[in-house]
Amino acid sequence: MARPVLRTGLCDLLHIEYPILLAGMATRGGWATPPKLVAAVSNAGGLGVLGATGMTPSQMRQCIREIRQLTDKPFGVDLLLPARLEEAGETRSQARERVRREYPQHWAFARSLMERFGLPEAETAEHEEVMSPAYLRQQVEVVLQERVPVFAAALGDPAWLVPQAHAQGMLVIGMAGSVRNAQRQVGAGVDIVVAQGHEAGGHTGRIPTFPLVPQVVDAVRPKPVVAAGGIADGRGVAAALALGAVGAWVGTAFLVAQESEIHQHYKEGILKAASEDFVVSRTYTGKTARTLKNAVIEAWTKSGLEPLPMPLQGVLMEDLASAALRAGRHDLVFQPAGQIGGMLKETKPAARIMEELVTGAVETLEALRRHTSAPLH
Ligand SMILES: Cc1cc2nc3c(=O)[nH]c(=O)nc-3n(C[C@H](O)[C@H](O)[C@H](O)COP(=O)(O)O)c2cc1C
Repeated sequence: MARPVLRTGLCDLLHIEYPILLAGMATRGGWATPPKLVAAVSNAGGLGVLGATGMTPSQMRQCIREIRQLTDKPFGVDLLLPARLEEAGETRSQARERVRREYPQHWAFARSLMERFGLPEAETAEHEEVMSPAYLRQQVEVVLQERVPVFAAALGDPAWLVPQAHAQGMLVIGMAGSVRNAQRQVGAGVDIVVAQGHEAGGHTGRIPTFPLVPQVVDAVRPKPVVAAGGIADGRGVAAALALGAVGAWVGTAFLVAQESEIHQHYKEGILKAASEDFVVSRTYTGKTARTLKNAVIEAWTKSGLEPLPMPLQGVLMEDLASAALRAGRHDLVFQPAGQIGGMLKETKPAARIMEELVTGAVETLEALRRHTSAPLH
């Protein structure tokens, strides 16, 4: 059977068949977008994007090379580049020490949570690096050296890396949660803006996808805009196009793909949850992020404690997360996912998710044409 056709200007720009992008996602306790998922989406005609935040530069390099062995199609790498980062110290141990010394109330509260949930004291980090401007530069350097076709920058201002990326023939995507952010991304020179609505999983702004996307499209025209947040089937893709976007950036729907390497408990938690179970909290990272609700978030919210700035809150919560993972209490760790998770009921191979997104969008767009008729003259 002939492959369905769903094409926008984004396909020409990115050299892909379908205007569907795997959102670069990073989380603890298993990789959300491992090389095999990135490659599966690219091989199915979309653009796979590796969420590299949390990876060391050498892990990044290894993953990029693995992706290249699995596909000869274009792909991307996504990094969180926060505009503002609190000085944390050069190593994770120094950062922990700083949090313990300067925020004794927070430290004591995190410890009391470990006691409350019966978690043994654990002082472990996956590696010694801590998010800092110098560390982010090292990560970006890997993306440039490896000549990754597409770079996606989240949270901050990528102006400093755009000229070099362009000089190497790379395209740059900038994430935005508001019109102002989108304009800042365009000012920084990005090639594509992803407008991500409030319903999205992970770090998120305050404006839902429906009001956000058309406003961003109008504000940055002719810059191409891709819609994100709450898209998990063909109807969502068609809606994104109707709002003026040229593609869809899909996170949560691929997070539960068979190729995603998040823990089974996390995947099942999403598949069982209703939309209202995905809440916004600053408990785990210091910035607003949408995640499956749990007892830790509830306790933090009740405490009234103001979360620490990024990256200190993450450093503070890391011991609890390590202890919880070691004790098999996956329900107590950060499990980012979006509200559309309420619609997802089973895990599938990424190629099938892609196929359903494309055929569903084509069917929806064709069905919509039946609602209209040419004016009679
Ligand atoms: C588990 C998870 C981790 C995420 N990590 C990142 C990240 O590292 N960088 C980023 O740009 N966006 C990240 N996001 C946001 C996604 O890129 C995307 O915008 C969002 O998932 C889209 O909404 P949806 O989940 O409703 O599809 C993450 C989202 C999830 C669910």
